[in-house]
Amino acid sequence: MTIAGRRSAFATLTGERKSGLILAFMADTKLIKEKVDIVDLISEYVALKPAGVNHKGLCPFHREKSPSFMVSRERQSWHCFGCSKGGDIFSFVQEIEGMEFSEALKYLANRAGVPLDNYRSEIGSNLRNRIKEINENAANFFHNFLLKMPAAASARDYLSGRKVKPETITEWLIGYVPDQWDLLTNWLTKKGFAIDDLVASGLTIKKADAVSGSMRGYYDRFRGRVMFPIWDTHGSVVGFTGRVLVETENSGGKYVNTPVTPVYDKSSVIFGLNRAKSEIKTKDLIVVVEGQMDTIACHEAGMKNVVASSGTAMTETQVKLLKRYSQNLALAFDMDAAGIEAAERGILIALREGMNVRVIRIPDGAGKDPDECLKKNPEIWFQAVKNAEDVMAWFLEKATKGRDLKLPKEKQMASDIFLPKIALVPYAVERDYWLQKLAETINVGMDVLREDLPRFRKNPQGVVVGRKQVVSSVPEKTATASAPIEMTRSEEMLEMLFALLLRFPKVLQDYWGKLENIAPVLSTSHYANLYFEAKKLYNKGNILDLEELHKALEIVENGSEMMSLLGMKGDLLFQDFDDRSAMQEAEALFNQIHADWLGARRKQIQLEMISAEKAGDKDVVARLMNEFIKLV
Ligand code: CTP
Ligand code: MN
Repeated sequence: MTIAGRRSAFATLTGERKSGLILAFMADTKLIKEKVDIVDLISEYVALKPAGVNHKGLCPFHREKSPSFMVSRERQSWHCFGCSKGGDIFSFVQEIEGMEFSEALKYLANRAGVPLDNYRSEIGSNLRNRIKEINENAANFFHNFLLKMPAAASARDYLSGRKVKPETITEWLIGYVPDQWDLLTNWLTKKGFAIDDLVASGLTIKKADAVSGSMRGYYDRFRGRVMFPIWDTHGSVVGFTGRVLVETENSGGKYVNTPVTPVYDKSSVIFGLNRAKSEIKTKDLIVVVEGQMDTIACHEAGMKNVVASSGTAMTETQVKLLKRYSQNLALAFDMDAAGIEAAERGILIALREGMNVRVIRIPDGAGKDPDECLKKNPEIWFQAVKNAEDVMAWFLEKATKGRDLKLPKEKQMASDIFLPKIALVPYAVERDYWLQKLAETINVGMDVLREDLPRFRKNPQGVVVGRKQVVSSVPEKTATASAPIEMTRSEEMLEMLFALLLRFPKVLQDYWGKLENIAPVLSTSHYANLYFEAKKLYNKGNILDLEELHKALEIVENGSEMMSLLGMKGDLLFQDFDDRSAMQEAEALFNQIHADWLGARRKQIQLEMISAEKAGDKDVVARLMNEFIKLV
């Protein structure tokens, strides 16, 4: 992202103070960048492997099976060669979290331990930051109330009755709020929070007849409830779930949640992810349960890769959030008809995202949910997770169960149910595997099913269509990274060739001379400057000195960025190459670029000749003829 982009955060300031702040600000963002290791930061979202001096992994912003996402520690930058997004730590956090810049700034400054006193007001001017702070305070209030207050005795009894350990209560900051009108609202306003912000946080409800400027007409949303804070992946409290202690006629729903606020939307948060994410990466498995109590019980029992979707089907946002940490999902949901139907939507989304989905079945009589199962017999729950069944096999079984598969109509019906599921899988090999399973089960030929499949693949959303077209998975809010760029074939090959030449400067040095043959392509390409500078250096000494090339390009627009991108590309593609394979690859690339260019040029000449002939311009025709013959 550019400095200009960041300046917008200061749009509200004026004059000298503004320019002073911008300088301080630039110095601070630089300091933050120095202190936050980009590889560590991005590793929290993406499994990165060293590749040369850089690191590579699967891009979190588009779907791919082999890595084209590179991170450079040295330059503190990232770039995806698949979808062309790239930037620094700030743009990464904004992009992946859907944060505004001032939020990303606050988060990264905290992480780096850089005080942001210079623009505290700047950060405070952001409503989302203010709401998070309110939530933080409320969570502590509820928690302390539960631990210390006599009025919380029944809540403490309730939790110990459900076998929640004291350490668990502390770890999950579980709290309690007694059944009073405006206890929390009062406490928070006394602490200095503005009533409008409390309303925006969802903690306070404003009645229609509320008198602005006074406290009349405002009351607490959560009353008489055990409180579970909900964190985002960085551990900011973004909302709450409150479970009623005793269900009565007037107690309202069993669970009350924070409504949609600027920092919270039930459909895009995953409960427990902040605590589960590292274990999820280690185990390479996400276990999704329905409730808060289920999640907490699992963690307490030592299974810490568990999160909750909070009782609803997983949404696309949630699935994409989870997918950052692992491709493997195991779901435990209510196995009654309604439960299955609700879960199915989330499952289909996960399949479409290319995830491996398994279904956890709690055996009959072992409890209605993981929490109950753990209380009865933890071993059964651990086994159930271990034996979770592939959801595709599960779907296939559901589609064929109870059918007389000798009858053509029944075969068709089974295949009509299962084919749409196969159609969602974005990978051809996997699709083929399940087609084969279906063919075996209903005893029809593969070719028949293959023929039928496209019916269901008309426009499965999010499937990669054609070459290099990227379906972005990024929240709309962020506009930091550049839009996906359609690269032409020759540009793509040039990028590869230059990455290769820079990686093997000695072995491939002669290419800097040989490139003369495709000079017309080069001079109109993105790499024109690189080519000219490199050629100058090569002509001086015959061996390309990369240091010098770097220096020469530093003063060329985008020059150093280009060098670092090509460096990353080289690490990505040619890490395992030896001299011999490098030479072969360079030869192949060069020949292809050359051939493409010849073809294009010949076509162009033919067109020019036609118009020159029409115009009766004999000289031009002769010149073109000459060139054409030379090219052949
Ligand atoms: N839920 C919710 N709103 C509701 C009901 C349920 O948000 N009105 C969510 C909660 O996150 C809850 C989960 O769905 O944890 C599971 O709900 P439910 O099946 O009702 O949970 P129980 O196991 O019956 O509840 P508990 O274990 O707390 O007794
Ligand atoms: Mn339960």
